[in-house]
Amino acid sequence: MSLVSPSLLSADFGHLADDCIMLNESQADFAHVDVMDGLFVPNISFGTPVIKAMGKHCKKPLDVHLMIEAPERYIGLFKDLNAHILNVHYEACKHLHRTIQEIRLAGMKPAVTLNPATPVEVLRDILPDVDMVLLMSVNPGFGGQKFIPQTLDKARRLKQMIKEQGLSTLIEVDGGIDKNTAPLAVEAGIDVLVAGSFVFGSENPKATIEWLKSL
Ligand code: DX5
Ligand code: ZN
Repeated sequence: MSLVSPSLLSADFGHLADDCIMLNESQADFAHVDVMDGLFVPNISFGTPVIKAMGKHCKKPLDVHLMIEAPERYIGLFKDLNAHILNVHYEACKHLHRTIQEIRLAGMKPAVTLNPATPVEVLRDILPDVDMVLLMSVNPGFGGQKFIPQTLDKARRLKQMIKEQGLSTLIEVDGGIDKNTAPLAVEAGIDVLVAGSFVFGSENPKATIEWLKSL
């Protein structure tokens, strides 16, 4: 049984409430919220008013993925927006340890995210402090990209590190998850599957979520 975090980036923004209601009625464990600043990644997604609307209509815990420079500036804001998990990029934090502590102190679950080119070994000393590690399996910024297969080896190495340290840290994967890649990710030790276009682009999103959960 996997955990599933459908990415609202692929939702229909003209009918956002409908897609949130669909998630509420589905077996999804989280709602994945992708925040982009046009600087850390070459794209801008949505800001506070839209995330507020997501929080209002969506009953699933928000799994917020910050693709922004210096995310420590907005920890208080995302607490107010009711984020449950707050993912910050390793590559965007000057003082990752401090940022992680501040997220936990604010009452959210801290998670750290790695770009495809960043090796999991950089997390060895911070692993006990985070609840989850998010491995990007595409370069962040856009939905609908192709899964980068090296992510599977990263997941295996990370799983081993977690085991060695006697931790229960979750591993999440984000990008290019579909009917072919999801089983491979689960086999490599991934606990949480983010899926955007695969869920929202499918004919029956609730059934797609159910299938992902069954893996
Ligand atoms: C990309 C985002 C993802 C995106 C995934 O930068 O972080 O969450 O929505 O989209 P798919 O599942 O379509 O690759
Ligand atoms: Zn994401």
